[in-house]
Amino acid sequence: MKVCVVGTGGREHALRHVLARTSEVVEEDADLYVIGPEAPLVEGLADRLRAEGKLVFGPGADGARLEGSKAWMKEVLAAAGVPTARHGVFREVEPAVEFLKSLPGLYVVKTDGLAAGKGVLVTESLADAAEDVRAKLSGSAFGPAGRTVVIEEGLSGGELSVLAVCDGSRAAVLPTARDFKRAADGDTGPNTGGMGAYSPVPDAAGLAFDDVIDRTLGELRRRGIEYRGVLYAGLMLTPEGVKVLEYNVRFGDPEAQVVLPRYAGDLAALLAEAAAGELRSQPKCVDDACVCVVLAAQGYPVSPRTGDVIAGVEDARQVEGALVFEAGVARHGEGPLVTAGGRVLDVCAVGPGVDEARRRAYEAVSRISFAGMQYRTDIAA
Ligand code: AMP
Ligand code: GLY
Repeated sequence: MKVCVVGTGGREHALRHVLARTSEVVEEDADLYVIGPEAPLVEGLADRLRAEGKLVFGPGADGARLEGSKAWMKEVLAAAGVPTARHGVFREVEPAVEFLKSLPGLYVVKTDGLAAGKGVLVTESLADAAEDVRAKLSGSAFGPAGRTVVIEEGLSGGELSVLAVCDGSRAAVLPTARDFKRAADGDTGPNTGGMGAYSPVPDAAGLAFDDVIDRTLGELRRRGIEYRGVLYAGLMLTPEGVKVLEYNVRFGDPEAQVVLPRYAGDLAALLAEAAAGELRSQPKCVDDACVCVVLAAQGYPVSPRTGDVIAGVEDARQVEGALVFEAGVARHGEGPLVTAGGRVLDVCAVGPGVDEARRRAYEAVSRISFAGMQYRTDIAA
């Protein structure tokens, strides 16, 4: 089978790497198209390719609204009876601030539209939350994506990402992963697209997520939406049980980089079955764990600097179990590899257990260098 992966980040590199074990990865003229990022899905790329008769793994614009509009997602969750945080949707400052005042104390303000993982503020300060509402609704913070906000009560508990491969009515749930969204050690600093991840998550052992996914797919079907692609549930393990914080409509980045290397079956076959609405394979994964440490550019996530020369990638790949995925890099002709994005490299390692995978990943990290390189030292610690 010939497979084309749409997208250029670390997630897509991981997809190509694992798909290439069992299929031929091509640039175009493929038997199967796998769409990586959310923006083209929300814009309807899957619909356009399907209209040309192509086999596509990725939801149409109708299903991708789950990520394109958090307000709509919350409506679907409520209709599906899936547990989630109490919320309100606002376009005006005053009622939004009134709603904030009615919440018990941890405030969450989200842009309705896409904001590359940076549109969420979680704060204990009512003043900061109100200020954020003003910045978002005025359009100054996130443009049109912020002109509607979703305000939620803050929940607490361990977080978990669950990726389910869906064929419209059935789902194959992949192993759990946990990502690290804050920029700095100890979960401090601004939210980012993700600074690292690991899989599996020990405190999720024994929990089943099929019910959450099945209810959501069922609700989408009731609305006439045939969802064929990854449904990514961002979950929180609260004292009252598992609650959905968000849905994304594609593989997580960097969750894909730790879940997919553990895949032991034929990933291309699994995704092709889902794309055709005929999911039959049971997902198969190795017991080994995988850890990913993201190397980010100076200035990330605010204003990443580009053009810094990167050294040591091939050396890092020699570490046992290591995989280095290219997230934001460029190579000009015969020149050296240079930084070309906020998240630059995803340094991953597979190993027997999270601790050993972590040790290997940081050993690989220690072999790489570029000016301004920043990363967290506490991924999977
Ligand atoms: P989201 O993009 O909706 O997943 O939000 C990004 C991050 O904000 C999540 O991974 C959580 O860490 C945090 N978050 C989102 N919603 C809530 C909530 N209701 N309570 C506490 N934290 C939240
Ligand atoms: N790692 C979070 C995301 O992919 O949205």
